[in-house]
Amino acid sequence: MGRLRHLLTLRGLPRETYQDLFGRAEGFMGPGGSSVARTESLRGSLVVNAFFEPSTRTRLAFEIAARSLGADVVNFDLLSSATQFKSESFEDTLRTIAALGADFIVLRHGGEMPAEGLLEILPKATCLVNGGEGSDDHPSQGLLDAWTIQREKGGFDGLRIAIFGDILHSRVARSLAHAFATLGAGSVTVSGPPKLVPESLEGQLKVTVDHDPDRAVAGADVIICLRFQYERMGGSYEAARDRHNYTIDEGRVALASPEVMVMHPGPINRGVEIAPEVADGPRSFILSQVRNGVAMRMAILDALGEGRRAA
Ligand code: CP
Repeated sequence: MGRLRHLLTLRGLPRETYQDLFGRAEGFMGPGGSSVARTESLRGSLVVNAFFEPSTRTRLAFEIAARSLGADVVNFDLLSSATQFKSESFEDTLRTIAALGADFIVLRHGGEMPAEGLLEILPKATCLVNGGEGSDDHPSQGLLDAWTIQREKGGFDGLRIAIFGDILHSRVARSLAHAFATLGAGSVTVSGPPKLVPESLEGQLKVTVDHDPDRAVAGADVIICLRFQYERMGGSYEAARDRHNYTIDEGRVALASPEVMVMHPGPINRGVEIAPEVADGPRSFILSQVRNGVAMRMAILDALGEGRRAA
């Protein structure tokens, strides 16, 4: 297995790398899964969180993860940066962050540049971690979601997965498509307002599109709810007009497997894509995803640190 130098996408990530990261993340879980074990594997390293789009979970989880590995952490603040009023470009901001000594840059952006272009403007020694890119990729979320499923279900063989909501704009759905294809999920059904559900997801994953939400959820082992991304709809919310027909409520959960996992990468909009009683209910894994997100980000940074030291 090759060493990880950057984490840009789950496209083409080998199955062994998933298993390696799942194993590392398991090792970083604290007693009872409530906290994370601390180590010193990144002592002396600087991690910069460069978020050009808002975030709660990803940014904080990477910060907690990096500190738990002994790294120093600095958070770039977009609103007080020289991108405002002074027109500094995205690329020059990244060059500046690297020149300030970042060993790792966790980058969230709207898709300003493809990953290959980003690597060209950064020093070779800098590790780049995709913290969410436009509607294209959110690999650390895909990894933590897949690991959360693996922990609960023991594997992916025969697993029936239903994904609901705004699939068109979801970077999580695209990263999960790659993960589910590589890990061998049984079936994936997508459902949502017709204009927000593409005919296929990326990768080799075969998905079934079903606009009948009750049929789409029937017998599901995992339901993944996705937020409607109004900020990416160009000012017209027409495509999301019938979003309430696709809400995951208790009636829909009752149609799924009795052991169904209800998941959501967050942020959640209660009463829109998910009913509050489901979000807070016994089948909800939403806060487990958040907790697991710290150990998975530790696993990612730890593996990248190893790759960096070996280079
Ligand atoms: N799931 C996710 O990416 O959440 P944040 O936008 O809060 O990071």
